[in-house]
Amino acid sequence: MADLDLPARQGFTPDAPSAALPGEIPLTLTINGERRELHVRPWTTLLDLLREDLHLYGTKKGCDHGQCGACTVLVDGQRINSCLALAVSKDGCEVTTVEGLAAPDGALHPMQEAFIEHDAFQCGYCTPGQICSAVGLVQEGHARTPDEIREQMSGNICRCGAYTNIVDAIEDVLAKETAK
Ligand code: FES
Ligand code: FES
Repeated sequence: MADLDLPARQGFTPDAPSAALPGEIPLTLTINGERRELHVRPWTTLLDLLREDLHLYGTKKGCDHGQCGACTVLVDGQRINSCLALAVSKDGCEVTTVEGLAAPDGALHPMQEAFIEHDAFQCGYCTPGQICSAVGLVQEGHARTPDEIREQMSGNICRCGAYTNIVDAIEDVLAKETAK
């Protein structure tokens, strides 16, 4: 890529407002409940913004091509592959990463609890994307059966093969949501 004429982001502090470098575009996002005034290069993906600029390393880069789901986050409540979204295209949006799912008092999200209870991971690399995707799936309200969960989670790959327990965890949360 021919972007290397621009100064490097040395000394960038993730919690401070970002000063614009040449060619950067202003961008406002609410990330995990916190409004952020940022500046990004036009080609920066939401995934790279989260990880490289904001140091939110929970969101993982697997394929970087929309094939694995490791980078799944919620944007205005909808699950997306953040590697496929340009950050500037989400100006004004609310972004939730796995770091933002727990309650302010630290209580884990029910989906996080269910993943622990059902042992729904091994190495854990896919897990933040699986959990964000599962939270999106429950909010969508379309999946009811294990087959429907499998179908609608098919964009999230687990190389450790923890699928059976992942489906069990999601089924558990769905059942509790339905019982409310
Ligand atoms: S890193 Fe985004 S789908 Fe694989
Ligand atoms: S737990 Fe290892 S890739 Fe899913």
